[in-house]
Amino acid sequence: MDYLACLIVVLQLYERRFVDATVKLTNNMNLECIYPKTAGITQMSWVKSIATGKETIAVSHPLYGVHIEDKYKDRVRFINASSRDKSLNFIKTTEADMGLYLCSITFPGGVWEKVVQVIQPDSFLAPVLTTNHTITESGGNVTLRCPYSVGGLVQQVMWERIKVDRMDTIVLCNLSEGKTYGSDYQERAMIDCATQESNILVIQNVTASDSGIYRCRYDGNKTHVMSLTVSSGKGAGTVFIAGVLRAIEANCQS
Ligand SMILES: *[C@@H]1O[C@H](CO)[C@@H](O)[C@H](O)[C@H]1NC(C)=O
Ligand SMILES: *[C@@H]1O[C@H](CO)[C@@H](O)[C@H](O)[C@H]1NC(C)=O
Ligand SMILES: *[C@@H]1O[C@H](CO)[C@@H](O)[C@H](O)[C@H]1NC(C)=O
Ligand SMILES: *[C@@H]1O[C@H](CO)[C@@H](O)[C@H](O)[C@H]1NC(C)=O
Ligand SMILES: *[C@@H]1O[C@H](CO)[C@@H](O)[C@H](O)[C@H]1NC(C)=O
Ligand SMILES: *[C@@H]1O[C@H](CO)[C@@H](O)[C@H](O)[C@H]1NC(C)=O
Repeated sequence: MDYLACLIVVLQLYERRFVDATVKLTNNMNLECIYPKTAGITQMSWVKSIATGKETIAVSHPLYGVHIEDKYKDRVRFINASSRDKSLNFIKTTEADMGLYLCSITFPGGVWEKVVQVIQPDSFLAPVLTTNHTITESGGNVTLRCPYSVGGLVQQVMWERIKVDRMDTIVLCNLSEGKTYGSDYQERAMIDCATQESNILVIQNVTASDSGIYRCRYDGNKTHVMSLTVSSGKGAGTVFIAGVLRAIEANCQS
């Protein structure tokens, strides 16, 4: 019953509404939650926000194992329950699966959370192709620049990583309110919202999996899309370039 008490504590934390990732509703859908810290996991849960409050979907505990609520048992599973990857896979989804989900991981000394929003597929904007391509080596720091002129008028900038079926929030930077990093980028994204350097985002220690499309949004609806390729440290060229990036790559390498 300690287990339940612990769960209630976790549920009470569900006050945060900053969305860390936006995922398209698809018939077979993954909600990614990869714990980035090194401290061991005490317990974790996935809960969904519903009209009347919160609904537990699944709980995973190193000793007690995995529990999936009856309502979800037949169509939800942990992709990889044995590791720090606590991503959930849904099959046979319906419109009722849209909404806000919270992946909450407790470790000695704190809680790490990620809020994932599932939205209608057609409300998802496809990334615009870009020719502005940054190439960097694995292990380095990359600097991405949002091309607005610093000097006062831009009040808020939002950085996102765009994938085929989802969008990850890197940071929301509001000149008067400060910054909020997305859960997956807390440890290695850096932006200085307080100065006129707010148009520069640094991502530290990049790896091949950071290759992809990035976007900054500012002044309400203005956007700038850029692509990043992280090559292996040995200078052997590109390692992995997904989907949309491939076309750009072909043009740039000739
Ligand atoms: C599960 O996690 C392990 C260790 O992180 C990893 O090697 C393996 O590829 C993962 N499996 C899946 C299906 O993601
Ligand atoms: C493309 O990226 C480079 C490096 O970040 C930047 O200096 C340049 O202004 C960008 N070009 C456009 C059109 O945004
Ligand atoms: C990346 O940035 C961090 C923080 O500024 C710094 O400590 C580190 O040395 C940088 N790494 C490289 C490869 O430049
Ligand atoms: C930044 O935060 C302030 C204070 O909460 C808010 O009034 C303003 O609308 C925000 N800026 C933008 C561009 O949303
Ligand atoms: C960079 O990432 C590698 C692999 O994920 C990790 O082993 C290393 O400790 C990281 N370095 C820093 C400075 O964060
Ligand atoms: C941005 O919003 C303003 C005001 O709603 C509108 O006039 C303008 O056309 C929009 N710009 C773009 C590029 O959508």
